[in-house]
Amino acid sequence: METWLLDLNISKAEAVAESIKASGGSAYAMQIDVSDADAVQDASQRIQADYGTPSALVTAAGIIESVSTVLDADLEAHDRLWAINYGGTLNACRSFGRLMREAGAGSIVTVGSINSYVALPLPAYCPSKTAILRLVEMLCVELGRFGVRINGVAPTYVLTPALQTRVDAGNRSLDTMLKVNALKTMVKPNDIANVVSFLLSDNARAVTGHMMPVDAGYLPTTTFASFAGGQPWPD
Ligand SMILES: NC(=O)c1ccc[n+]([C@@H]2O[C@H](COP(=O)([O-])OP(=O)(O)OC[C@H]3O[C@@H](n4cnc5c(N)ncnc54)[C@H](O)[C@@H]3O)[C@@H](O)[C@H]2O)c1
Repeated sequence: METWLLDLNISKAEAVAESIKASGGSAYAMQIDVSDADAVQDASQRIQADYGTPSALVTAAGIIESVSTVLDADLEAHDRLWAINYGGTLNACRSFGRLMREAGAGSIVTVGSINSYVALPLPAYCPSKTAILRLVEMLCVELGRFGVRINGVAPTYVLTPALQTRVDAGNRSLDTMLKVNALKTMVKPNDIANVVSFLLSDNARAVTGHMMPVDAGYLPTTTFASFAGGQPWPD
């Protein structure tokens, strides 16, 4: 099975491809800006011509923004974020989804966020991730009768190397993040990969149109925190 890594940052995609090859897999990297619908369409055609219709698609490209108010956010940066986070997801789902529809099989997983469900002061990021959830629901109905499933994952703060660096530098607090986390453990990149892998697999053959929080209980814990004292037991 071949894996294609499509990313704007080609050296990052190549490094991941190399690690897949090192563990016995077959992988290729391709540089692409997912906000460019024509480029995504060309890539899908090239991959199909050389290797046939992909059986799985994961749309993970995304950027984050600095905390801001809606009223004062920079509109140009807002539109660029939307073009990548929502537009990139849409472009990939459309181009590869058409191929899967034609083939009568396929599974798609998009990457949303806890911000697909709840708001934080990130005026472009939050609605872009909510829109991805709606897209998953619409495409579930549209593609289901062609044997194509689509789901999403909604991660909370993930302890990526980038976040670890910020924690080490004192710019982010693990205690603060863990306070709103029922399991009192940080979510790691592999936790996300495992759920993506399940959703893509035949074990999830009856699951479509949903976005699964991978949040160690963040969503219910935050609603508890806002209610009279937060929790029915002492700290
Ligand atoms: N890290 C977290 O805590 C967290 C939490 C919730 C959701 N997410 C989501 O997970 C996904 C991956 O995030 P990450 O934390 O691994 O960040 P990351 O920066 O490591 O990965 C994002 C990738 O998207 C690529 N990218 C950016 N713009 C692109 C473009 N225009 N075209 C193609 N590729 C582009 C980047 O080069 C990078 O490889 C994102 O969608 C993000 O919103 C992350």
